[in-house]
Amino acid sequence: MSRSAHPAGPRHADVLPEGHYSAPPADLNVLDPKVWAQTVTRGEDGAVRVGGVDVKTLAEQFGTPAYFIDEADFRARARAWRTAFGADADVFYAGKAFLSRAVVRWLHEEGLNLDVCSGGELTTALSGGMPADRIAFHGNNKSAEEITQAIESGVGRIVLDSFQEIVRVAHIAHSLGRRQRVQIRVTVGVEAHTHEFIATAHEDQKFGIPLAGGQAAEAVRRALQLDGLELIGIHSHIGSQIFDMSGFEVAAHRVVGLLKDIRDEHGVELPEIDLGGGLGIAYTSDDDPREPHEIAKALTEIVSRECDAARLRTPRISVEPGRAIVGPTAFTLYEVGTIKPLEGLRTYVSVDGGMSDNIRTALYDAEYSVALVSRASDAEPMLVRVVGKHCESGDIVVRDAFLPADLAPGDLIAVPATGAYCRSMASNYNHALRPPVVAVNDGEARVIVRRETEDDLLRLDVG
Ligand code: LLP
Repeated sequence: MSRSAHPAGPRHADVLPEGHYSAPPADLNVLDPKVWAQTVTRGEDGAVRVGGVDVKTLAEQFGTPAYFIDEADFRARARAWRTAFGADADVFYAGKAFLSRAVVRWLHEEGLNLDVCSGGELTTALSGGMPADRIAFHGNNKSAEEITQAIESGVGRIVLDSFQEIVRVAHIAHSLGRRQRVQIRVTVGVEAHTHEFIATAHEDQKFGIPLAGGQAAEAVRRALQLDGLELIGIHSHIGSQIFDMSGFEVAAHRVVGLLKDIRDEHGVELPEIDLGGGLGIAYTSDDDPREPHEIAKALTEIVSRECDAARLRTPRISVEPGRAIVGPTAFTLYEVGTIKPLEGLRTYVSVDGGMSDNIRTALYDAEYSVALVSRASDAEPMLVRVVGKHCESGDIVVRDAFLPADLAPGDLIAVPATGAYCRSMASNYNHALRPPVVAVNDGEARVIVRRETEDDLLRLDVG
């Protein structure tokens, strides 16, 4: 993801500052379809539209900052994953990326399943109409209440993450007179090439049970003995925002190795294998994500090759993409408030949101793109840093980007590819009101998660 260093000729930049940026694009008005949702276009008047609705109209109607999600694009991406994996596999959308009842309904209609990782996500999933048997329940420290809620509602599977949890889930299932379908999450010892905080398959971290030292095999041994559990498979999730398929290849190889050991030791062929999510998306024009059909082909080929070699029946595969479905479908719309050129450095553009609606830049050094969307401009490119309005200098939305030099307060700018892990990780820092999520489709815009109000804040503050 690193970019070439110094661009040609931005304003205020005789000596260019350090930064991760490429040369400014030839035309700042052009929107790269790689990073923008499918129906986003720039109209003849220069203003950008999504789902046929102009951003100026959207800003007037819903205010800023706000997330706008392209419903047609979301459905198309969900369908593309579903179709790519076909009837012999399951696609579980990872709700942590972004979950609301409207999204649950779209997923259900498009034939996807759902992965949840908390009681709150489970409640949203059920309330949105997802059948319980199409829900997978995750987490490294599920509470007894969450486990009970999951089993009572009839979730299709619980993914077990520790030795204590194997016993805990078995015990609760038994006391409810149920036999719960479960998978065991293992760590396969792969170093995924992504940010440390979103890499999850190396052994030195909190998720899963290591294959190393026979720990996962021991977990399987225990789970097979407990009558509250029906062990249906092994789960592996190697991390997030991954472009290189080789990590999945190693993971599949090692998980199939465990399936073979289980067959040899217990005479049982587990019927399922879940390879998790983690497929990368384009945040900037430099990123080149793979299409769902390429990913499906690669993963199914790896698993069947490994199973053939181990003389195992190929298990049913499931995957859990979150970001790759919802990430590219939304953008955040901001109004420019102040513009501060720092001679020889860069221009700071302050918007009416910030780290409370997008923590990813501060937390993971994430890169984003940005564009002026309320009008077109032929002004020269200026090197900017888009910052929020919070009391913290790390409150950066887009670290390095180019916007036209005639940018002015009151202009609307948009940051694309904010559909995943932005609203779901939003906070009330500085008592910011979390922005709404508005679905736009076929000329109509509809709030699916409303903007928080000061009444919402005060309601929690019991005085
Ligand atoms: N399955 C499991 C078990 C997971 O833990 C995750 C993500 C996913 C699927 C979905 O991964 P995706 O396809 O969305 O990459 N907040 C971070 C990402 C944390 C991901 C946590 N687990 C970010 O903003 O990049």
